[in-house]
Amino acid sequence: MEHEVNKLLKTGEFAKYTGVSIRTLRHYDEIGILKPSHRTEMGHRIYYFDDFLENDVEPNWKVLNNVIKAVNMEKYYSNRAGEYENVYNRNNNTRQQGQNEIKEKLKEIFRNKNVLEVACGTGYWTEIISQVAAKLTTTDISEETLIEARKKKLEYRNVDLKIADAYRLDKIEGEFNAACANFWFSHIPKSRIVEFIEGLNKRLGKGSIVFMADNVYIPGIGGELISKHDEEDTYKVRELLNGDKYEILKNYYLEDDLKNIFGQFSDNLQIKIGSCFWWIWYTIK
Ligand SMILES: C[S@@+](CC[C@H](N)C(=O)[O-])C[C@H]1O[C@@H](n2cnc3c(N)ncnc32)[C@H](O)[C@@H]1O
Repeated sequence: MEHEVNKLLKTGEFAKYTGVSIRTLRHYDEIGILKPSHRTEMGHRIYYFDDFLENDVEPNWKVLNNVIKAVNMEKYYSNRAGEYENVYNRNNNTRQQGQNEIKEKLKEIFRNKNVLEVACGTGYWTEIISQVAAKLTTTDISEETLIEARKKKLEYRNVDLKIADAYRLDKIEGEFNAACANFWFSHIPKSRIVEFIEGLNKRLGKGSIVFMADNVYIPGIGGELISKHDEEDTYKVRELLNGDKYEILKNYYLEDDLKNIFGQFSDNLQIKIGSCFWWIWYTIK
């Protein structure tokens, strides 16, 4: 990407430069994850490139890259919201069995708990957790996925649906003693894993229980895995029903990786590796 240091950009220009829609930029401003540098008297947003870089001599492209990856992911899931749950309806016994095992575990773990759900998407797992939890605050960064989740009428039960960034869980109100983040972990850049887990554990507190599930890598399923020179993250190209394509950050983990990552933060870490999915649960240390 071409880069001009110190350049002031209006929202439309910044949108063109980063490939992020104006609507998404407004939304990011509203929820506080990507604020413009200035507002004109008329209220127009102005983006100043240097504000997204650290004030060192070298521009910090890593920071800006992470912002762009996060924004791209949100755009993809927002546009996929209406068709998202097709992924759970695949006519494949092994997948259905894996999903059922996860559901059973969720019902066991979250019974009578005050649960925080992170990156809930369209609320597929929310529906299961809400059957047993005392109270459930369920969050996602994408308004569109929450609109789908609301169609399930979960709010009439014990569910509170809110927009929130998985990296800013401190902004969510409430008392929780359990958390669920399904199919989110694989989308976290490796450089942000510790930030995410520490933020989650801090928000809940010692003794609370955490559950996460995600995909096991199966060659040939869901497209080719893309590695990039000098990058620790991997990617997949995803295509929506309308033909739009997105390159999405998607990392896969083996049992030992999960042990190494979560072991240091947890007591009693339990790991299940199935044919299609892995799932873990632990108590916060
Ligand atoms: C693979 S989907 C998982 C949805 C749901 N948990 C499930 O298992 O069906 C990943 C979700 O992460 C959300 N997401 C992306 N970036 C996020 C962020 N920074 N904070 C919170 N949610 C985010 C997306 O909008 C999307 O709904």
